[in-house]
Amino acid sequence: MDQIVIEGGRELSGEIPIAGAKNACLTLMPATLLTDQPLTLTNAPRLSDIRTMTELLRSLGAEVAALQDGQVLALSSHDLTSHHADYEIVRKMRASNLVLGPLLARFHRAEVSLPGGCAIGARPMDLHIEGLSALGAEIELRDGYLHAKAPGGLKGARFEMRFASVGATENIVMAATLAKGTTVLGNAAREPEIVDLVRCLRAMGAQIEGEGTGTITIEGVDALHGATHEVVTDRIELGTYMLAPAICGGEVECLGGRVELLESFCEKLDAAGVQVEQTPHGIKVARRNGRLSAVDVVTEPFPGFPTDLQAQMMALMCTADGVSVLEERIFENRFMHAPELARMGAQIEVHGGTARVTGVERLRGAPVMATDLRASVSLILAALGAEGETVVSRVYHLDRGYERVVRKLSAVGAKLSRVKDGGGDE
Ligand code: UD1
Repeated sequence: MDQIVIEGGRELSGEIPIAGAKNACLTLMPATLLTDQPLTLTNAPRLSDIRTMTELLRSLGAEVAALQDGQVLALSSHDLTSHHADYEIVRKMRASNLVLGPLLARFHRAEVSLPGGCAIGARPMDLHIEGLSALGAEIELRDGYLHAKAPGGLKGARFEMRFASVGATENIVMAATLAKGTTVLGNAAREPEIVDLVRCLRAMGAQIEGEGTGTITIEGVDALHGATHEVVTDRIELGTYMLAPAICGGEVECLGGRVELLESFCEKLDAAGVQVEQTPHGIKVARRNGRLSAVDVVTEPFPGFPTDLQAQMMALMCTADGVSVLEERIFENRFMHAPELARMGAQIEVHGGTARVTGVERLRGAPVMATDLRASVSLILAALGAEGETVVSRVYHLDRGYERVVRKLSAVGAKLSRVKDGGGDE
């Protein structure tokens, strides 16, 4: 298994291009199932999660071609052959469940495996099921699969979600585009990836209003058509790379970054003493004046502080001056990076959903293990600012959500390399 070896302690300077959003692309790809005409996605990220979704869509009979070095995805669901999303693929990635709504909408039936356990918490699908049932779907769980059908098609309805789930909002909105009549989704998630999905669906002929607010209204249409859509910037990759100069010192411009994708995160960086500036090309981040101050963080649905940046923020707080309290309110088991950071000398106490970090002057390199996607990149960030060498193992987690990490960070002066099984670099 590959490892990443990092020699810490270098200031960073230069530019890092930010890719299209993984989480947007993973919901835009299944939108192909809603139409028999071609859907083209540009600015797609090159990630293993995207390859997993490609594999899943192909297993349903869709055509998916990765063009221009993987940055353009040409999709077609002209001749689908199956409505069965198999456990062998779904278990690799929870976002596989995003085929449920589109399959139900277009074919009035779907069989989708439950994703199963996930390292960062239970992550059930009850909200997806309740929402689609409100649209008239009959869904039962048998043999680990959701068996869903909607004889005669889905029908628009009012549905209020108990919690603003991102995935459930996406599934319900996609399903409602082809339902008969009007759907009003209350307490909808407001994440930029949902706004991006709605923009794409609208380009495909859907009638939707209210994206980015808590109420989304969808007027069902008879059919959707083809479109070309540019995937929104990955705000989590953006926030991750903004933290690199904040941890190491120096100045880095994250190309394509926009502050409105990450307002609450940018406010926290500012409060900690990091300089954040919107430029015409992206976001410039600088840290020049010695040690940062500890800040407290509570993860919340958008526009709150994103749970997907909590681990990386913890890496920053490890060497800030004072005590930082990080409260995780979205996922119940999302501090697996804490004991790994402790191996590097961080002082962290975890009690339930709260982590208390007492900043130390400096972390020291150590062998550490990646446990999930965001945890893995938090270890890399911490290692970049640490004294000496860190070896991060199990980096396949990283490949799910970060393209060309070694190349992007090396270009701004970081010293790190990927070591293949039998030696040799990326
Ligand atoms: C998406 C993102 C993920 C991010 C998360 C929260 C994708 C592919 N993934 O995941 O990176 O961390 O949003 O911003 O876009 N829940 C239920 N019942 C449900 C659905 C969810 O109880 O039916 C709970 C989950 O267990 C979790 C919380 O709601 O505690 C948030 O989940 P949700 O917003 O659905 O996240 P995902 O769409 O899975």
